[in-house]
Amino acid sequence: MTIRGFDLDNVDALYRLDSAGTFTSLGGLPVQCAEACWDLAEQVGLPEIEAISNIVVTGLGGSAIGGDLLRVYAAGRISVPVVVNRDYVLPEFVAPDTLVFAVSYSGNTEETLSAYGEARAKGASVIAVTTGGKLGEAALRDGVPVIKIPGGIAPRAATGFLFLPTLRVLQKLGVLPGKVDEITEMIELLKNLRKKLDPETPAEENPAKQIARKLHRRIPVIWGSAGTTEVVAQRWKGQINENAKAPAYWNVLPELNHNEIVGFQFPLEILNQVHVIILRDEHDHSRVHKRIEITKDIIKDVADGYTEVWASGNGALARLYSLIYTGDYASVYLAALYGVDPGPVRVIDHLKKELAKQ
Ligand code: F6R
Repeated sequence: MTIRGFDLDNVDALYRLDSAGTFTSLGGLPVQCAEACWDLAEQVGLPEIEAISNIVVTGLGGSAIGGDLLRVYAAGRISVPVVVNRDYVLPEFVAPDTLVFAVSYSGNTEETLSAYGEARAKGASVIAVTTGGKLGEAALRDGVPVIKIPGGIAPRAATGFLFLPTLRVLQKLGVLPGKVDEITEMIELLKNLRKKLDPETPAEENPAKQIARKLHRRIPVIWGSAGTTEVVAQRWKGQINENAKAPAYWNVLPELNHNEIVGFQFPLEILNQVHVIILRDEHDHSRVHKRIEITKDIIKDVADGYTEVWASGNGALARLYSLIYTGDYASVYLAALYGVDPGPVRVIDHLKKELAKQ
């Protein structure tokens, strides 16, 4: 099937466009998750911390999204707050009873290095999550425990490595209930889902290819729901930006019913180009389900259209990752439709290089 110049079922062409092996990394996600949970997390020494009053995950971009996954997952399960920090500085409340995960895939992100320094200065318990770099060196020098993750893939392709060990550490510290079954279910679900999403599965049976076609030459707006799919909406947006090199925007219900939805009136010629993805989870609040139905009605004649994508699986992790996996693949197919290599993120590299000079 030829789709506006790029045939998504031309498997050879898909792989040829993908210089950095994005499809290979995606296909490897179930194995990555297993390795992250059962190997990496087992190796790390636990910090000596008597009582944890709050948890901070500090990182940027692909290294920060795991923090949001942890925040959403932990919210209904533990009694201390999890805060994600995407900045050079840490919140004032950080103190010796704070557990800080300093997460940087490369280990060289300046904001994360700065926040790591602050965490140390404030006497917080720190765990570094990195492939190495300056963060790895600093942690080694400071005697800070390191979750050492394998290199060679893009940070955004490493959510398993970047997120799951932090979850396991909290389980091992007794902060989070140790639900290993949920992790096993998630890994099995990803293995099955991969067969539906990978390049070898033709577009008629491949939901990710179908979503990419809907988003092609449109402005993607991704809506999630507070407490469940909000982090997935953010993830889809980032993946479309970085893989497809295209704009995308995200928001969360019920909040968007109190502002963004009012903006679906002008300018019509731009709103006509907006395709809304509504991420759905059976576990969304019952009132949110009702809100979504009314909201769909409000946008249906204004936007280009909307597509609902439902989470699958029983446990929270499986449901989260089922949607993340679908969005990850869709963003790479969207890159193909634009004829762009999903791997390199030259703009980010340029920014980092320029900043390093100053
Ligand atoms: C690149 C990516 C970026 C990086 C970010 C921070 O794939 O996803 O968003 O994650 O620039 O870099 P690291 O992860 O090395 O700290």
